[in-house]
Parts: sequence; C-alpha cells; structure tokens
Amino acid sequence: MSPAPALTSFRAIDVIRKKRDGIELSRGEIESLVSSYTHGDVPDYQVSAWLMAVVLRGMTRGETAALTDAMLRSGEVLDLSALSGKKVDKHSTGGVGDKTSLVLAPLAAAAGVTVPMISGRGLGHTGGTLDKLEAIPGFNVNLPVAEFRRVLAACGCCMIGQTAEIAPADRKLYALRDVTGTVESPYLICASIMSKKLAEGIDALVLDVKTGSGAFMKKEEDAVFLAELMVETGERMGKQVVALITDMDQPLGCMVGNALEVVEVIEVLHGGGPDDLRQLCLELGGWMLHLGGVANTVEDGKKQSEKLIASGKAFDKFRRMVELQGGDLRAIDDPKKLPKAQHTMTLPSPKTGYIASMQAEQIGTACVILGGGRERKEDSVDPAVGIVLHKKIRDAVSAGEPLATIHYNAESRAARARQRLEQSFQIAAAPIREKRPLIHRVIGHEAESGAKN
Ligand code: URA
Repeated sequence: MSPAPALTSFRAIDVIRKKRDGIELSRGEIESLVSSYTHGDVPDYQVSAWLMAVVLRGMTRGETAALTDAMLRSGEVLDLSALSGKKVDKHSTGGVGDKTSLVLAPLAAAAGVTVPMISGRGLGHTGGTLDKLEAIPGFNVNLPVAEFRRVLAACGCCMIGQTAEIAPADRKLYALRDVTGTVESPYLICASIMSKKLAEGIDALVLDVKTGSGAFMKKEEDAVFLAELMVETGERMGKQVVALITDMDQPLGCMVGNALEVVEVIEVLHGGGPDDLRQLCLELGGWMLHLGGVANTVEDGKKQSEKLIASGKAFDKFRRMVELQGGDLRAIDDPKKLPKAQHTMTLPSPKTGYIASMQAEQIGTACVILGGGRERKEDSVDPAVGIVLHKKIRDAVSAGEPLATIHYNAESRAARARQRLEQSFQIAAAPIREKRPLIHRVIGHEAESGAKN
C-alpha cells in the first residue's frame, strides 16, 4: 500500500472508502477522524464502518503509529515527575477471569513503585478492570486528574478509567468496538492500550498479552505480532516495555464475574487463591518491581512480591487504595458483604473423565449473558453474577460432579448462559498429558532474563 495524497477537506465517508479499498490513510486523515469523532462531529455508524474496514484490511505501521498518537493526543498527557520513584503500569490485552491488575497495582506500590493505572471496561467476552473495581460498593473509578494525583501521592497506586482529560478518544472507540465486533484487530488493540498507557506519565510498562481460546489473539503467532507492535510503539516513545505472552486457554483462576473476581483477588492478597492466578501475579509483579528499579532481577522481584503478600503489606495497600477511592472497606474485610446474586445453579459433568479443554471465550460470553458484561453499549453491568469453576484443564471429573456454579439474578439469562457453558467443557476418557505453560514467551526489554515456564 502506498500513501495516498492528503484529502483537502475531511469527510468521514472518504476515509471509510479508502480503508475499505485497502489504500493507506495519511496521518492527517487519521487525526481528523479521531478528533472529529472525539468531538461528536462524526456519528457512531460511520466510525463503526471504518473500524470494521480496519479489522478486515489491517493497518500499516505508519497508520498504527498515527492512530496511537491521535488517540494519545485526544487528551492530556500526564506529567508525574513530581512524584518520587519510577512510574510503572501493567496492562492485559484481555481475558476471562483475568483479575491480576487488582492484585498488582497495590503489590507494586507496596514495594515502592508508583502505579498510575488507567484501565478499561469489559470488552467483548472479556472482563474489565473497572467493572471489577466497581463491584466494591462506593469505589470510584471516575476520579478527575487532580484527585488521581492526590491518591497516587498518598498511597502509590490509583486505578481509574479514562477521563474526559486522558485519552477520551479511546473511551469512545472502546465502547463502540465492544458492541460492533471490532475488537479483534492487533492495530486497534495496540492503539487503544498504548494511547492510554502513554498518557499516564509512566516510565515503564509490563504488558500481559493473552493467547488461547479466551484471548482475542487465539494463536500464539498473532499474540507475538501484537506484543511486538506494542513494544515497538512504547519504545518509540522512550518507555521501557516488556510483553509476556501468557496462557488464556482456560479462565484465569476459578471465578469469572465482577464481585466474584474481587473475592479471588482478596484471597491472593491474603496468600491463597488458585495456583495459576497467584503464579501469574508473582511473575508480572516480578517484572513490575524490576522495571520499577526496586529489584535487581525479575527473580528478586518475585521473591519480594511473595514477601509483600506474606507480610500483609500488599493487602494493606489494596485496602488503603480502596479507602482513598471511596470504596466500602467492610466489603474488603468481609468479602461476604460484596454484591451477591440471588440464585445459584450447578452444572454437572455429563460423564467421567478428564477435562481436556475449555472454550474460555464461551465461558466469558456466558458471564456477559448473565449480565456481567455488556451486550449493548448502554447496558449496565450486574456486579453480582458470574461463574465459579470447580475444575481446570487436566482435572479428573466424575459423571454428575459439578463442573461450575452459575450465580444469577434472572432465570432467562441463566438458561442461556447454561447452554453456552454446557458446550464449553471437553472431557476425555484418558488423562491429559500435555500441560500448556502459563508464560509462553517474553518479548522486549531484557526478555532473555525473564522467559520462564
Ligand atoms: N484492552 C484495551 O485497553 N484495549 C483493547 O483494545 C483491548 C484490550
């Protein structure tokens, strides 16, 4: 594709047609589209058409850089240099049951790293950090920038959503992509994640790029492509960036659903929780502490992370952040006080055998159907609903034994979710030998010192 001459006056229809026909857009055209949409001068339906053309046609590196820059510059770029220490964030490309951010922000802050975290809501079948945080009664993710700085200075971490000030273009585009089948594009994911991360005033970024049945990038090579795109984009802006390609062939941990996931976060911060979730938190935490300059190596960062959990310091930091962001500490100290669904039903195993695989995307979609995510842009999220998995891949199961428990508030939704779940587990007669690694690869900054299984 060769660059097309810039259009003299911007019309969204021209940009849609060019992308549809595979012609490279100029930086000016991309800037005009992003800025017009952010200001409400281009309607959702035109941008939806353009997004779909991008999904189908892709983008060049130049277009991806222009889109990231335009989204980044749609708002304020924070300067946090007045705060001491290195500013490090972590971001996941999205998965099912992925609640690591809620553990990692306070964990790294407890080690002395400043974590300014701007997160997203649920996208497609994946859960969103903001929706999970809002399951804590009173927790405010909509802090203005001045308050964001105040919380950061007071406790070292703060978790908010995009504001009108920070990457507002991503907030609008993200919500539109969620309901138009336009999430699965490495170029759009890269621009979305990197624009909000680069706006945060960070020095370093740890990326968790998911691969497997519950990820947007089902194939490892696609995850690697996205990881390289994001690392390159971050480094171009002078940041230290590392990307871990991690497994999402089954939900992370056992809980899927907003309040349920907060329960599991609290378990991990108390030193318990499911093995895969705890291991991934320690691995990502090790990288955050290393890039944050408080650990000489990733291994040292992992050891420090374990100690911060064992000593209760990471949990205390989480409590402090919740308090400063208006959350009800009674629900943190006693998770039974978190929102609870009115009903539960179990899903029994149809046969005896071993869990061979799970369709993690279907499990995420079942949670969305229950009301744990959005099917339309204007939908509100039910914090209480979700799914508790009783089995993970390779586990033995007997006929009739529960595979999962559905937590629900509406019968009709539960019936639809159950249908999805029934198709989500594949059970084999013989034990499963193959074990997928939790960390597939590490890409970027000092990758060779961190690659582990
Ligand atoms: N997370 C984001 O912030 N944006 C995406 O597009 C996908 C995952």
